[in-house]
Amino acid sequence: MPSSPIRKLVPYAEEAKKNGIKVIHLNIGQPDIKTPKIALDAVRNHDIEVLAYSRTEGSDSYREKLAAYYSKHDINVSSSDIIVTTGGSEALAFTMGSILDEENEIIIPEPFYANYNGFATANGVKVVPVVSSIDTNFALPPISEFEKKITSKTKAILICNPGNPTGYLYNHNEIKQLVALAKKHDLFLVADEVYREFAYDGKQHHSILKEEGIEDHAIVVDSVSKRYSMCGARIGCIVSKNKSVIQTALKFAQARLSPPTLAQIAGEAALATPQSYFDDVITEYVSRRNLLVSELEKIENIKIAKPSGAFYCVVELPVENSDDFAQWLLENFNVNGETVMVAPAGGFYASEGLGFNQIRIAYVLEKEQLVRAVKILKEGLQQYLAQ
Ligand SMILES: Cc1ncc(COP(=O)(O)O)c(C=O)c1O
Repeated sequence: MPSSPIRKLVPYAEEAKKNGIKVIHLNIGQPDIKTPKIALDAVRNHDIEVLAYSRTEGSDSYREKLAAYYSKHDINVSSSDIIVTTGGSEALAFTMGSILDEENEIIIPEPFYANYNGFATANGVKVVPVVSSIDTNFALPPISEFEKKITSKTKAILICNPGNPTGYLYNHNEIKQLVALAKKHDLFLVADEVYREFAYDGKQHHSILKEEGIEDHAIVVDSVSKRYSMCGARIGCIVSKNKSVIQTALKFAQARLSPPTLAQIAGEAALATPQSYFDDVITEYVSRRNLLVSELEKIENIKIAKPSGAFYCVVELPVENSDDFAQWLLENFNVNGETVMVAPAGGFYASEGLGFNQIRIAYVLEKEQLVRAVKILKEGLQQYLAQ
């Protein structure tokens, strides 16, 4: 198994903290936004006497309300098209297990969420990357590049929309091209849409489930983690109209018995979160993004992919090895007792040697901290390059 590029620097951060250094975490997508009270109250106020297993596929009432949530997003699915999982992570693991055999190939535009590689490795599946470029803000690479990579072993294409780590939101035309490709070559199209609500600048999110004729190919991976700032609830789901995919995923789900009962109660209640919550959260993230980008632009010789969704930003730095730089920031550098932790981007690529001059920044901090963090990063970069 590959180690997580986001978590592998943790021991250095812990050491820095032991030495009295305050570490500002730009490395991990743990939002600081409050969980909707309605979700927490549902857990506080329940009258359960036995904390029992739930149904393997998730409680009926939760899945019915989830179907209603999707229908509000113009996605026409029923509760039987949904399996509740222990986070989007388990949805990804079940999806890969259900649609891919050992030695099959899955095509993924890179950079991608690093754990895709982990889940593929666990299933003996080969990730075949198609490179997207920081120069286009990581837009969908030409469809011909995907087509070149299709072999008899290719079974699926996986996208993350909006993207982690790229922050890129695919436009409708890009989604339509992917749908056409999946249909043409009879491939599964898996979309990780855990950041669905986080679409900025008036842009629309386009779910693959809204496209016609893709019903048998489309699988959506979803999660409450980021949507409601409920990462610790560990609730997600798989959504697909393909009955055979759902039946197969259900067997994986049966092996782990059931998703967490209390967290499903919280997830179900969270579905009643008013739109005003999302409006406020999105306003906050947009202003953080704008501030982050304008602060980063003050650093010379770097490239920034301006995100239009999610809460991540990939930055290209004038360094040869961002793993080394990120470690150095933790081990050898501080400004008035503070340093920053960033995620080196090499682990977000499957192609050998790519991404080693890039980092990912998660803008899940308050603005005042973000400004300080970028100043520290700027000074760190100057000192690191001057060595
Ligand atoms: C793109 C993406 N997919 C899936 C996940 C898994 O999330 P969880 O298991 O918390 O639902 C994450 C978490 O960061 C993510 O960024």
